Amino acid sequence: MSLPVWTERLALRRFTIEDERDLLALVEHPSFASAVPEMAPTKAGVRRYIERQLEYHAFEPERVFDLAIERKADQRVIGLLTLVRRERTGAAGWALGVDYRRQGYAVEAASALLDYAFGPLGLERVEAETAVQNEASWRLMERLGMGREVCLRAGTVADGQPADSYRYAIRSGEWRAAWPACTPTGPRPSPVPPIPQPGG
Ligand SMILES: CC(C)(COP(=O)(O)OP(=O)(O)OC[C@H]1O[C@@H](n2cnc3c(N)ncnc32)[C@H](O)[C@@H]1OP(=O)(O)O)[C@@H](O)C(=O)NCCC(=O)NCCS
Repeated sequence: MSLPVWTERLALRRFTIEDERDLLALVEHPSFASAVPEMAPTKAGVRRYIERQLEYHAFEPERVFDLAIERKADQRVIGLLTLVRRERTGAAGWALGVDYRRQGYAVEAASALLDYAFGPLGLERVEAETAVQNEASWRLMERLGMGREVCLRAGTVADGQPADSYRYAIRSGEWRAAWPACTPTGPRPSPVPPIPQPGG
């Protein structure tokens, strides 16, 4: 498997200079900008961010390497995914434009990223961290089958202030057990076991 990675509705691919306009529209919203501190919310800041991404090799260790989330229907960049690779582990992150949330795009994109991390990249563990009050992000982690490992006091910064954070992680074997049909385009079973029905 190589880039781009295709899912039912999305393409996960490297950024190009042509993405400047879409990214500027996303980063104008503070909730996107605060999740992507590497991108200043100006035309020049977005250009610098893309140029830096273009210098990196894909998934180069210790780099904050990002993938564009492109919606196939209109070829718009609607968000991004991050994977910082360290030896056999990775740290993942995600941000979607405010108009594209709560439509299942994050779980679709992030599960393809985990397939890629545990498949072609051969990672053994992927973790992610978010502010305790960022329920959307930790709910996504739980939807992906990640387990909460620790609460870090003042582990991150939210709205410019130190904030407690949760760290979640999932290991390769857990991912394969929770998502046995590991194909980015295939149907995805819920990792949450069904509730037993009386008499069932
Ligand atoms: C976090 C984020 C990427 C989630 O994206 P999304 O596309 O809205 O998420 P999805 O629609 O795929 O939903 C994933 C799960 O999270 C839940 N969820 C999403 N937004 C939620 C919210 N605001 N409150 C509670 N749960 C939420 C969904 O219900 C779903 O769980 P379910 O399948 O068990 O119902 C998005 O909210 C975002 O970009 N936020 C701003 C950037 C950010 O904070 N990034 C993280 C930095 S650590």
